[in-house]
Amino acid sequence: MMEDGSVNLQFAKRLPKIELHAHLSGSISRKCLHDVWLQKKSIDPDFDLEDPLLAIPPGKVDYNLTTFFPLFSSYIYKLCNDVSSIEYTTAAVLADFQSDNVVYLELRTTPRAIPDAGITKSTYIRTILSCIAQHNANPTNTLHANLILSIDRRHTPAEAHEIVDLALAYRPHGVVGIDLCGDPSVGDVSALTPAFRRANREGLKITVHFAEAPASATEEELWTLLGWQPDRLGHVIHVDRDSAIAREIVRRKLGLELCLSCNVRANMLVGGGGYPEHHFGWWRDLGVPIALGTDDVGVFCSELSEEYRVAAEHFGLGHDDVRKLCESAVDMIFGSDAERARLSTLYTSLEVEMRRGPSGTCQRC
Ligand code: IMP
Ligand code: ZN
Repeated sequence: MMEDGSVNLQFAKRLPKIELHAHLSGSISRKCLHDVWLQKKSIDPDFDLEDPLLAIPPGKVDYNLTTFFPLFSSYIYKLCNDVSSIEYTTAAVLADFQSDNVVYLELRTTPRAIPDAGITKSTYIRTILSCIAQHNANPTNTLHANLILSIDRRHTPAEAHEIVDLALAYRPHGVVGIDLCGDPSVGDVSALTPAFRRANREGLKITVHFAEAPASATEEELWTLLGWQPDRLGHVIHVDRDSAIAREIVRRKLGLELCLSCNVRANMLVGGGGYPEHHFGWWRDLGVPIALGTDDVGVFCSELSEEYRVAAEHFGLGHDDVRKLCESAVDMIFGSDAERARLSTLYTSLEVEMRRGPSGTCQRC
């Protein structure tokens, strides 16, 4: 595979990749949901939930902002509603990222209490952290994962504070930051300012879904979010190119988590644009750090490798550009310095390996 050749899926698969924007419940594959459903049906034939393969048909990826969010409340949360299904699906999500050659993952999830199963928000977090710890402890796994706790835009100030408390309590066990997520058409984010400011004072890292839809891209909201001193921003779609907000993002060199296929498939781009119109191109030209992300690979069905491949295809990136793009995510991680060092070493070896090949051939391809 030549240095100046096109970036195909094989090349993208073999690249070690960093995933910083993946929601746990949205990353569960249809097959995995189906396995859980079969298991529940076998224990209780009266289990009254439609087969995931019918509820979320394979091949259907055109969920938009109206049809997407109810998938969780009306289906996935009803299926993954006890410790064993949460453990099973979390382990499967980690294994899926591992098999796509993701070497570092910051998985995010909204802490959920499930009283019928005796699960508190704390139990929920502990269950996921223990799956992550088990995965990380396996020396054959090249993927290391950490956890980010999400605050939903619908949360009350008290619920947001509770998640900050949980993030602080579980920081020694692998929680590396907090996120603001949820349906962009609801919620007044200013009510959450005290919780995010406290998180910031306590040294928790912060990422926020930013300008994801026109409704969540008012100047007032965007300045409020920037006032929380976030370390990274997700999506960053509806930002005027000549605006003071765009200049501020560039001035702070904020790391952007960009999710190409999710945005295109969910028709989130201005004027319904496709990959060539994706804002990845102009943010990249502005020199801000970028990490590509899948967002919800279980729903939009595009693995991280495919994200790098489509970015290369539509923005004219060669092998070395894609390698550098992957590597630029190292400085964006919320994980430890030791993790950053591990990843830097990995990318340095990859660069050497790629340069050593005949005519810049990547030996691993
Ligand atoms: P969970 O937090 O692991 O349960 O993952 C599902 C949740 O992630 C959903 O209920 C949403 O609140 C959130 N989420 C997933 N994708 C998006 C997105 O693109 N924008 C905002 N929130 C999202
Ligand atoms: Zn997201």
